[in-house]
Amino acid sequence: MSKISKPIIVGNWKATPKDLKTAISFVKDLEKKLSKNKIKKNYLLAVPDVYINSLFNISKFGIIGAENLTGNEEGQTTGLNTPSIISSVGAKFIILGHSEVRKRGETNQSIKEKLTNTLSKNIKTILCVGEEKREVNVNYLKFVEDELKECLEVSKKEDFKNLIIAYEPVWAIGGISPATTNECFEMVISIRRTLVELIGMDNAKKVSILYGGTVTKENAHSFIEEAGVDGLLIGRASQNVDDFYSIIKSCL
Ligand code: PGA
Repeated sequence: MSKISKPIIVGNWKATPKDLKTAISFVKDLEKKLSKNKIKKNYLLAVPDVYINSLFNISKFGIIGAENLTGNEEGQTTGLNTPSIISSVGAKFIILGHSEVRKRGETNQSIKEKLTNTLSKNIKTILCVGEEKREVNVNYLKFVEDELKECLEVSKKEDFKNLIIAYEPVWAIGGISPATTNECFEMVISIRRTLVELIGMDNAKKVSILYGGTVTKENAHSFIEEAGVDGLLIGRASQNVDDFYSIIKSCL
């Protein structure tokens, strides 16, 4: 895989676009814009599993990955995709623990099992964490700390080189207001502290942290400049080629 350039810009296409033809023209269009403007930076794009191979074959600057991991072990489990199935068709990274997947029943325990597997297989893994709410009596820093500890419990320290954390406050996903850069910064410091506690300073330094939740072409740059993150995880704005291009350009 080509080295991921920083800031790390990751699109999460979710259940879009409507068909493979549209997905292919999106990537061609995006890369035409990047080439024309001599932008060499790479980007990551998490796409529906069935699009992975075709996009992997045509993309020059894109690192294509999966939005989720449905299965963990090869065998008699109808309809599930394992790390080896996903990576054999070109996925270079996998997102785990997205809140929309957690809402459908994914637990820290099942994320931990999948994460231990993907990291040990040398697959870059983006682990999403984030509190549901920020209320006076809700200790959101502790909530995220617990999520991290539960999901990372059995992974080997040396495998953490393949880990990326995405801080995605659930209340900011799919809405109109992102977290403020101050709110994000506070959480990034807390996540770093937890990582140091879990794996020591040297290993913790190697883990990149992203912010996600209503990132737009207007606010993307401010997170990189002011919120202490190494990159962004972008939903809706990555599903529009002009917006995604503008974000990549604004984060050079
Ligand atoms: P959003 O989604 O950018 O549309 O808020 C972010 C995400 O779900 O990762």
